[in-house]
Amino acid sequence: MNTLFTNANILTPQGVVRGCLGVADDRIAFVGELPQDFLVERSIDCEGGLLLPGLVNAHTHLSMTLFRNAADDMELSAWLQDRIWPLEDQLDAEACYYGALLALAEGIRGGTTAFNDMYFFEESVARAVAESGVRAVIARSVVTGADGGKSRVEEARQLYLDYNGAEDDRIHVAIAPHAEYTCSEETLIACEKLAHSLGARIHIHLSETYQEHEECKLRHQLTPAAYLASLGMLGEETLLAHCVHCDADDAALLGAAKATVLHCPQSNLKLGSGIAPVMPLLAHGVNIALGTDGAASNNNLDMFEELRLAATLHKGVTMNPKAVNAKTALQMATENGARALGWQSGRLQEGYLADVVLVDTNIPSMQPVNDLTAAAAYSASAGDVLLTMANGRILYERGEYYTLDIERILANAARIKDRLGL
Ligand code: NI
Repeated sequence: MNTLFTNANILTPQGVVRGCLGVADDRIAFVGELPQDFLVERSIDCEGGLLLPGLVNAHTHLSMTLFRNAADDMELSAWLQDRIWPLEDQLDAEACYYGALLALAEGIRGGTTAFNDMYFFEESVARAVAESGVRAVIARSVVTGADGGKSRVEEARQLYLDYNGAEDDRIHVAIAPHAEYTCSEETLIACEKLAHSLGARIHIHLSETYQEHEECKLRHQLTPAAYLASLGMLGEETLLAHCVHCDADDAALLGAAKATVLHCPQSNLKLGSGIAPVMPLLAHGVNIALGTDGAASNNNLDMFEELRLAATLHKGVTMNPKAVNAKTALQMATENGARALGWQSGRLQEGYLADVVLVDTNIPSMQPVNDLTAAAAYSASAGDVLLTMANGRILYERGEYYTLDIERILANAARIKDRLGL
């Protein structure tokens, strides 16, 4: 299917370009002037709207939408132990399927086209991702349980063998030890060996809270980042969620390793965990992508909110209005995440995979039109998204879902919420 977007303002790596964007099958065919030989099968008049690369939610737990607004105003250890873990014990494949579908529906409606998930019943998540049309890295969350983590590591291996590269490469599989504080050294080493043998990414929570960071230092005489480095777990394929309490030495270590930090500002604020040291991380060349974390600690999956927080929070922290400018924040929300997750997407550029979002500019909050890069970072909201395309296929357009039955998803999510006793 060839799609032509006309009358658009297109956010390219070189800045905003006025004109057309053509999509042939799953790739962007051109940006700017319509070539004479481009066969148009569907033409969409953008009416001066803003075309952005699809947003990449680089750290989340999709099925946790079921716990939205069910555990609030708590600190992380109590939030996990008293509320979330008992609820998670009740989850099953069906619950995770509808929880994931609800998350994907929310993301698609808000311009998100790729997700990095870590949770349970990932076969259900894979099914939801396959149906929805988005991209996702899925991973079985590994903690050291009664059998020392062996069964979960084996499940992680099987998930990789079954799904990595599935659905025309829309699904990738990572190996996800949950965190240093939930995994024994033996489990972490088993995960590292597995990821290494498969060539898979590692996705792990790191230094999310002060307590966790300090306890790791007591246990291992190393910060969590230095500890992972000592186990050979830091590299270009390592995706580290949060890194709120990483110090200057950690930032240097992560930069040297070319690791990716998955910055989740809203979740870190809501759980009172702190604010990640993004400026030192950037200074050391660390790749930074953005994520919402799960809907139980956010409490939505709105990537425009993360984008705006990333572009404002560090200005306040450093008292420097030049910190994380609009362009840098947009890169964090798009191409930095896409690259870290292994897709040639996240840019509106010829040859890139066609993950494209149309944002309405003909609304009061986007007018008058001045700098549209600034508008995308500081003015736009998820509700302003008119159309979401992933892999060259339109998934959502002006209130209508093309791949998902939204009524069925909402009804089942409500039913499962009741079943969980919420
Ligand atoms: Ni998380």
